Amino acid sequence: MPHFATRAAQILLSVRCMIRATIQVPGDKSITHRAIMLAGVAGGKSRIRNFLRAEDTMRTLQMMQALGVGVSEVSPTELVVQGVGLHGLSEPKDVLDAGNSGTTMRIGAGLLAGQPFVAVLTGDQYLRERPMDRVMRPLCQMGALIKGRAGDTRAPICFFGGRLEGLRHESKVASAQVKSALLLAGLRASGPVTVVEPAKSRDHTERMLRAMGARVLTSGLEVTVEPAQRLEPLDILCPSDFSSAAFFLVLAAATPGSELRVKGVCANPLRTGLLGVLRRMGAEIALEDRAEVGGEVVADIVVRGQRLHGTYVGPDEIPALIDEVPALCVAAALAEGATEIRGAGELRVKESDRLATMAAALSALGTRCTEYPDGIRIEGGSPLRSGVLCDTRGDHRVAMALATLGAATGVRIGLTDTACVATSFPTFFEQLRALV
Ligand code: S3P
Repeated sequence: MPHFATRAAQILLSVRCMIRATIQVPGDKSITHRAIMLAGVAGGKSRIRNFLRAEDTMRTLQMMQALGVGVSEVSPTELVVQGVGLHGLSEPKDVLDAGNSGTTMRIGAGLLAGQPFVAVLTGDQYLRERPMDRVMRPLCQMGALIKGRAGDTRAPICFFGGRLEGLRHESKVASAQVKSALLLAGLRASGPVTVVEPAKSRDHTERMLRAMGARVLTSGLEVTVEPAQRLEPLDILCPSDFSSAAFFLVLAAATPGSELRVKGVCANPLRTGLLGVLRRMGAEIALEDRAEVGGEVVADIVVRGQRLHGTYVGPDEIPALIDEVPALCVAAALAEGATEIRGAGELRVKESDRLATMAAALSALGTRCTEYPDGIRIEGGSPLRSGVLCDTRGDHRVAMALATLGAATGVRIGLTDTACVATSFPTFFEQLRALV
């Protein structure tokens, strides 16, 4: 059944919605995945507060349980994880299923490589079509025995043990998942592992590993981890997820007269590239009440809305807003003039081909779009057609972006799949409705 995302919002928004609110969004997805995995191989009991309870992160939790890690859920947002040590994981009795979660699969591959047991890792129909060779190849170069479907490029992936050695890997893509997988494998290798990236990707793994006592050295685009005997347990409070906040930030930024405060968001500069772009498009944005929590910068993000105008977003900016491109496309559709996003070819291998999915949806709604192999050009500001059914292609961030567009304009937008938001932000629609 298609879901008409903005039915509740329509009446208000047709008279131009104005947001004056303070909100909070759920815990950070990237940090939750890492906290569960690293706590699982720590040498003792870890506590993880404000973890993200969503489909993706529960896949990571279930994977770690299947590998012998004890996890107790103290409350809906608090976990206690009984770490088994870096060499304490045990053979899973069944196939491990990462669902839709690329992070579970790719960083999980770093945990499973070179273990003294056999494991098989698979995922849903979307994840099984995403490239896994970018992580399998360097792990095999380290000495792991790994095989996969489609000539060792796709899941299911089979891990057959092996002995891990150090490696210097020059990655063709800026990918925190690849980098994190290699750093985790490096903890159990016989020598250091260095990853060189073409541009800096999010560094949550490096920050968390340092907090757990591992030696992680960063120099420019290079990061090196040294083999470790033990990781200290974690006591972590996950900050709110910038990527979830992004939809509401765009909604407020594009609605003149609005003022929105999103509290306690992870403001790691390698994640917040969207803010610079929205400022350039005309929005007023401030970071207030900054603090450092668990090695991450956390702040309230305060946005004052304006009539936005189009801009150019270049390749250098992409890594720090990689997950925010669907939301940025919405800001572009609402802005006056053209916005061009380039150097974003990685978007083609996300949960869906996000350039194609967003271009198809926006075009169907009446916004002129041009797709490039590495980007998209959006002619913003044109009125949208009401009642169009847009195909989200099962992609949570596309669904949330299009619902945001509906909320901002009051135009009724049908979505083929809204259940997919549970991947990263199960309460998204409730929070959107409450806001508008
Ligand atoms: C993530 C890294 C990024 C991002 C993904 C989460 C992570 O993927 O798009 O949503 O938690 O490490 P890549 O590593 O493929 O860029």
